[in-house]
Amino acid sequence: MRQYIVAGNWKMNKSLEDGLKLASEVINIANDEVKSNVNIVLCPPFTHLTSVKKLIGDSKNIFLGAQNVSNKKSGAYTGEISVEMLKSVGVDYVIIGHSERREYFNESNEMLAEKTNLVLEAGMVPIFCMGETLAQREQGIHIDFVKSQITDSLFHLVDTEFRKVVLAYEPIWAIGTGVTASSEQAQEMHLMIRNHIASKYGQATADAITIQYGGSCKASNAVELFDCPDIDGGLIGGAALVAREFVEVVKAAK
Ligand code: PGA
Repeated sequence: MRQYIVAGNWKMNKSLEDGLKLASEVINIANDEVKSNVNIVLCPPFTHLTSVKKLIGDSKNIFLGAQNVSNKKSGAYTGEISVEMLKSVGVDYVIIGHSERREYFNESNEMLAEKTNLVLEAGMVPIFCMGETLAQREQGIHIDFVKSQITDSLFHLVDTEFRKVVLAYEPIWAIGTGVTASSEQAQEMHLMIRNHIASKYGQATADAITIQYGGSCKASNAVELFDCPDIDGGLIGGAALVAREFVEVVKAAK
C-alpha cells in the first residue's frame, strides 16, 4: 500500500502568532478526528519551523515540512537555508521545485536535482513538484513536459533513492486560481507519471511512489480527486490556511 500524504503549503502567509494558532488548531482537530493513517505535513515559513515542531510534539502522523532549501551545502550564500539547518530543527519533508520557485526564482531542473540530492543525503523526504502551464496543455505537450521534468531532475537517482521521493503533480493553471483539474485530467496525468517511473525503475517501484495532486484542492473536491486510483493525497495551498478546511481535505484521503 502506498502512503497517503496531505501537505499544507502555507507559502508566504501568517505571522508567527497566527501561524501557531493555525498549527495548533490543525493538530488538535486532526488528533481528535483523523483516524486513517494518512501522513499530515505542515509546511510553514522557515521562521516558524521550530515553534511548529514544538506544537507537533509526538502527534502521530503529523510531520514538519519546509517550503524550499538551498542547493548549496553551506557557506557564503546570504539569505539561504541549508539542508543541515532544516534537519537540525526537525524538518521531515522539503518541498522542491514548486512552480512559484521555478517561475519567480528561475529554479532549473538541474538546480532541483541538486536540491533533491542534498535533501535525500540529509535523510529528509523531498516533495518534488511538477506541472504544466495552460498553454502547454492547450498545445498537447503537457504530458511530455511533465515527464521531462521528472527525467531531468530525478532519473539520475538509483532505485532505493527514488523510492524515498514523494511527487506532487500541480498543473500551474490550477494553482491558486480556483480552477481544479477534473479528476479525469488529474488521474490521466498521474497514471502517465507512474508509467514513466515504471519505464525507468520497474512497476514495483512505480507502484510504491506517493503522487500527490495540487492546485485548488479543497474540502469540496478532495474526495473526488483522492478517489482516483493513482492520486495519493494532496499538496494544499489556500485551503491549508484554515484549520477546519484543511483537516476536511486530510479526511478525504483514505
Ligand atoms: P492552491 O496551491 O491549493 O492554493 O491552488 C497549491 C500549491 O501551490 O501547492
